Formats: sequence, C-alpha cells, structure tokens
Amino acid sequence: MSIIRWGILGPGNIAKKFATGLAAVPDARLVAVGSRDAGRAKAFAHEFAAEKYYGSYEELVADAEVDVVYVASPHSGHCEHTLLCLNAGKAVLCEKPFAINEREALRMVECARANNLFLMEAIWMRFMPVQTQVRKWIQQGTIGEPRMVQADLGFRAPFQPESRLLNPSLGGGSLLDVGIYPLAFTSMVFGEEPQAVTGYADMGQTGVDEQAVMTLGYTRGRLAQLACGVRTRTSQAAWIYGTEGMIHLPEPFWHGTRAVLHPGEKTEVVFDHPHRANGYEYEAEEVGRCLRVGLKESPLMKLEETLWLDRTMDQLRVQWGLRYPME
Ligand SMILES: NC(=O)c1ccc[n+]([C@@H]2O[C@H](COP(=O)([O-])OP(=O)(O)OC[C@H]3O[C@@H](n4cnc5c(N)ncnc54)[C@H](OP(=O)(O)O)[C@@H]3O)[C@@H](O)[C@H]2O)c1
Repeated sequence: MSIIRWGILGPGNIAKKFATGLAAVPDARLVAVGSRDAGRAKAFAHEFAAEKYYGSYEELVADAEVDVVYVASPHSGHCEHTLLCLNAGKAVLCEKPFAINEREALRMVECARANNLFLMEAIWMRFMPVQTQVRKWIQQGTIGEPRMVQADLGFRAPFQPESRLLNPSLGGGSLLDVGIYPLAFTSMVFGEEPQAVTGYADMGQTGVDEQAVMTLGYTRGRLAQLACGVRTRTSQAAWIYGTEGMIHLPEPFWHGTRAVLHPGEKTEVVFDHPHRANGYEYEAEEVGRCLRVGLKESPLMKLEETLWLDRTMDQLRVQWGLRYPME
C-alpha cells in the first residue's frame, strides 16, 4: 500500500474539509466519491480531483480500487453506512459521533472484527500535534497527576428545526454533535471510562439537548466538568489541572494549534504548531499508518474508547429522557 486510496461517502460540509486535508497527505489519494445523488457526487469529484463518482453508496463500496471509506453522513447514518462499507471489505474512518448509541457502536465494532478490517472514529482532534504534546507533558509528569479536567464546546447555530443539529431523526442535539469533544478529551487525559456520569440538559423545541453540562467521576477521585451547546457559544477552551501544575488549551481546544503548560512555580511553556493544512490531514495520516502496518484499530483512538464514549452519552441521555426516533 504505497498510496492509500480513499473513497468518500456522503459529500457534505465536513467531507469538503476532509478532502482538503487529505490533499495535503502525500501518500494518499481521493479516488472515488459516493452520494445519493450522482450530480452531487460529480460536482464533489470535480472540485477535489477524484477520478470516479457514483450516484449510490453501494456503487462506491463496490469499487475495487478503494482501500478505505470516510463515512461523512449525518450521525443517524453512521451505523448503516459503516456496515455497508465493512461488509464490502472496506476499511472505515467514521465521522463522530461514531453511532447514535452503544448498541449501534457494538454492531459496527463486531462487524469490523468479524471482517478483520480497520475501523476508527474520526476524532480528528486526537491526532493533532498539540494533543500529542499534551500527552507527552502528562506522560513526563510535568503537571504531576492529572486530577481534574474542565472543557467546553458550544456554538450558536441558527434555529433551523430540520437541520442535522436540531433534528431528532438525524440524531440532533449538542451532546452527540459537540459534547463528544470534551468527553473524548477527558478520556484521553484519564485513559479510562468514567465511573460516575451525571448531567443536566436544556431540551429545546425540537426535543433535543440544545445545551448541556456534565460532571464525570473517575477512579482515584479524578473529576471532569464539561459543557456543550449548539445554541450557546461557550469559551471552547480546555484545562487540565494536576497535582504539580496545569495545562491550558485555549479556544478552539478541539482543533487548536496552541497549548500552554503551567508547571507549578516554574515559567510557563507555550507550544505552538500551526496545521500543515486544515487539521484533517492528521487523522488521514494515522489511518494510512495503521493500514500500512496491518493494524485493525488505532492505538491512539481505540474502539474500546469509542465504546466508553457511546456508553457515557447513553447514560446522559437516559437521565435527560432523550430517546431518538430510531431507537
Ligand atoms: N470532525 C468535524 O470537525 C466535524 C464537523 C462537522 C460535522 N462532522 C460530522 O460529520 C457528519 C456530517 O456532518 P455535515 O455537517 O457534513 O452534514 P451535511 O453537510 O448535512 O452532509 C452530510 C451528507 O450526508 C449525506 N446523507 C446521507 N443520508 C442523509 C440524510 N438522511 N440526510 C442528510 N444527508 C444525508 C448527504 O450527502 P449525499 O446525499 O450527497 O449522499 C449529505 O451531504 C456528522 O456526523 C457530523 O457530526 C464532523
């Protein structure tokens, strides 16, 4: 696999950003695009110089020249579309949130394992140089033992009830759309599933959470206080508090290029690392690296962790009484 040959399923907003990042990966190529509409596939293929386009997802996954498919449909389609790809023998990078709930996520993970294929949730933040540096600082003990995380990600979208952000039938709501970022950031720091999960959400007119706060408890008394919103702009920053110091990731922590280490009494250290392209190149590179060495999951974003995240979100939604129509 000298060149990793990509297919894109669902050429919407995020697929454009991913294709832009992918273009900056030297040993990867976008070879095909699949849409429910051939015209949309053609326009996207033209814009991003893909050789082939298809008017159905079935045709895309049947293309023998595609090694891995990037699933970029709305949350409600992730399970069905990932299973379609895996059952056609394709490796998959699936957009976040991986699934609507843990039940769907388990089906996807089991299918990947049964077919001996690579599968990963596209938590693009995880693969950025800043996050690598944060893990390094933690491993080196620069802040002692991490004891607490605070992180939030909220933005104010217009009130469009049919949009994927607010539409229950597309898995709308702030938790699944952006709450996943502070949750995934925390699980990176603490490296385990929370033992206790509690939260409160403001359920909007469409019946999904427009904003939410969450408190998580981990072993040895470690805690996280997180927030998310799709109708409320928040600081979009993250802090890790340790026994010997703190790490700050300023806005936008989830795709930022800066982290600041405050090591107790010592002078602060600023780490700046501009993205080579738009930040999506790093997750594409990680998929390529894994495929080349035959890994079926990334050690940086394991499927087990994806299942922790889905279980945590399920627990929160039970507390809020939020059940999606497809559940
Ligand atoms: N990593 C990030 O930074 C990031 C940012 C934004 C979104 N996302 C994730 O990416 C996914 C897609 O978000 P997006 O903003 O790109 O959405 P979008 O612009 O609506 O695009 C989704 C695409 O999926 C296809 N699709 C398949 N079934 C659909 C359905 N029932 N309704 C609507 N579209 C459907 C459509 O393409 P065709 O009909 O042409 O096939 C559509 O263009 C979401 O899960 C979201 O959480 C990630």
